[in-house]
Amino acid sequence: NDDEKKIKIGFSQAMTTDDWRLQMNYTMKVEASLHPEVDLEILDAENDVDKQINDIETFIKKGIDVLIVSPIASKPLTAVVKKAKEHGIPVIAIDRKTEGEFFDAYVGADNITVGREAAAYAGTHQTGTGKIIELTGLKSSSPAQERSLGFLQGLTKYPKLQLVKSIEGDWEKESITESFKNYLKNHDDIEFVFAHNDRMAYGAWQEARKLGVEDKLKFIGVDGLNTPDGGVALVQKGVLQASILYPTGGNDALQLALDLVNEIPVENHKMLNTIVVNNINANILKHQMDRVDQQQGIIETQQSFLKEQQEKYTSLNMLLKILLAL
Ligand code: FRU
Repeated sequence: NDDEKKIKIGFSQAMTTDDWRLQMNYTMKVEASLHPEVDLEILDAENDVDKQINDIETFIKKGIDVLIVSPIASKPLTAVVKKAKEHGIPVIAIDRKTEGEFFDAYVGADNITVGREAAAYAGTHQTGTGKIIELTGLKSSSPAQERSLGFLQGLTKYPKLQLVKSIEGDWEKESITESFKNYLKNHDDIEFVFAHNDRMAYGAWQEARKLGVEDKLKFIGVDGLNTPDGGVALVQKGVLQASILYPTGGNDALQLALDLVNEIPVENHKMLNTIVVNNINANILKHQMDRVDQQQGIIETQQSFLKEQQEKYTSLNMLLKILLAL
């Protein structure tokens, strides 16, 4: 039977409420569609740690060939991901990590580098007090820990910069707006805001705008998505000064999963490149990203056309067999 020959890849996605995650899923699916032997199943944990543990348990019971996982938080997901490994399932961590580096590979940009790049941007664009507010992602997730760490490391090179406040967020703007607004009301000498992603950076900018001080501040975000509200557009509009590009790696993870199944040696860290999106390169980057998006769209249409044709062919074939048997 056809199903048994298929390579079953299970992807435990942290959530799908934002464009960045949707893009990760999309690029993974497009890549999967190019490999007819692949059966990709995505389970959405809906930002609920217990659900994500259950999702991975489900995958283990099903007997998948590879697990791809983007753990909401590091610690609480570690045991179940280890369990998958103990069941002989190779594991790829994407974007976020569990504790301990026991998985077969990690796909993503280096988040320490992301933090350092943000500090370097501030250091080379300082014209005022050099005072910075940081808005962090969910502290129990590895990208937030690493972005903070890299940022602090980067700051040591620029003695005129000073991190005066770190506000703990959870990746969504609602988590930081109140505290940010209150802090800003009482401190009029801030020069930079470094937010761990563009959604929070945009939320902070909106608060600053309400207070009429958005032009006094320089906002730096992370992700650099090419969507209407994404980092590239925000840089083009002058809302953000910079966004550190953080590729989703959906397609890379799928390729890596296939390599693992085919026992092709893989790099322990599939490093995705990061780059600073700024007002100098935003237009050209958008142009390039539009072209990639377009090509992916074409692949998708062609694949679904092929699938349609195949289905038509199969049903015609069946009909023919029935007719011949009469
Ligand atoms: C998307 C997101 C991104 C961020 C990443 C970190 O869900 O919040 O904005 O860069 O997750 O894991």
